[in-house]
Amino acid sequence: MVGIPKTFKAFRIHNDAEGYRSGIEKISIDDLSKGDVVIRGEWSGINYKDALAATGKSKILKSYPLVGGIDVAGEVLASECERFSPGDKVLVTGCNLSEKRDGGYTQYLRLDSNNIIPLPKGLTTREAMGIGTAGFTAAISLYRMEALGQAPEAGPIVVTGASGGVGSFAIDIFTRAGYEVHAITGKVNQFDYLEGLGARQCISRHDLHWGQQPLESVRWAGCVDNVGGDMLAGISRVIDLWGNIASCGMAGGIGLHATNLPLILRGVSLIGISSNNTPYAMRETIWGRLANEWRPQHLESIISNEVSLDKLSEAFDVLMQGNSLGRTLVNLS
Ligand SMILES: NC(=O)c1ccc[n+]([C@@H]2O[C@H](COP(=O)([O-])OP(=O)(O)OC[C@H]3O[C@@H](n4cnc5c(N)ncnc54)[C@H](OP(=O)(O)O)[C@@H]3O)[C@@H](O)[C@H]2O)c1
Repeated sequence: MVGIPKTFKAFRIHNDAEGYRSGIEKISIDDLSKGDVVIRGEWSGINYKDALAATGKSKILKSYPLVGGIDVAGEVLASECERFSPGDKVLVTGCNLSEKRDGGYTQYLRLDSNNIIPLPKGLTTREAMGIGTAGFTAAISLYRMEALGQAPEAGPIVVTGASGGVGSFAIDIFTRAGYEVHAITGKVNQFDYLEGLGARQCISRHDLHWGQQPLESVRWAGCVDNVGGDMLAGISRVIDLWGNIASCGMAGGIGLHATNLPLILRGVSLIGISSNNTPYAMRETIWGRLANEWRPQHLESIISNEVSLDKLSEAFDVLMQGNSLGRTLVNLS
């Protein structure tokens, strides 16, 4: 195809007789999952799920080998779908990239047009991938919490795993939407960073005491939880009447040892957030807001790092050790 070299670089994940492994390879366009739109990748990003997939810490991929990377933004080179033309700037987040089909850590990619969002006006491809699945997930949380009646007047929102990608964007976007945001973090040396994003109170994860009762004194009106496990169980006991907990992540575990009393006595809602499977219309709406009224105000502070495909493995190790801050961009050019 015109404009595509015979071989190009991609970060690929294998699991076969030689074991689980990932790294940079030279591949051709025919090695990639089929799709009706071909793009030149410009930017991707690193999410927790990408690190799990690349390191094999969790079996994310449903088939092997696949190119890693759940996010990508770039320019259309060829399209069999009339909604897209060569030269269009587009993005995809989730949609089974690097799970059931090849993902975004490649210089060229075939995509399914049903998954492609036209780049919203006001965002560059770099900015869109700076936001990526992390910012999109924070924004889905706001969208779904507000659909259930969450409002700034009800009181503060707490964000857990606050210094990570989703956490950083949740602080920024909820603050932008008028909420008072409190941040729970394991990184006491990053309070300044979190306050810079808008957090009005920073709390060390190591100093938390939830109490043992199914219902404890109310502390927050809602929560964006990236940690799961004991954190989510503890949070559920201290959310105010009719508050909402957006359950996004499992950085601290997947078990949930809680009671349903907060749900049936305080009307608290536990909302599931699945960015991968978000319906197309909701995707378009939320990306439109991310380019406008929810546009992150501290995008450049949240983008803590920018790496090339060759440096991906090192960046995954930092993330898996829980040491990353904000979001790492991947330059595909
Ligand atoms: N539901 C979805 O659609 C969706 C989408 C994106 C991400 N996620 C999930 O959301 C979570 C956050 O993703 P991310 O991309 O923001 O990851 P990330 O950048 O690695 O952030 C995770 C944060 O969680 C905290 N953390 C790490 N290990 C922990 C532990 N053992 N116990 C408690 N806290 C710990 C750390 O923040 P502090 O040091 O500040 O506490 C870390 O920065 C992940 O579990 C990810 O799988 C889900």
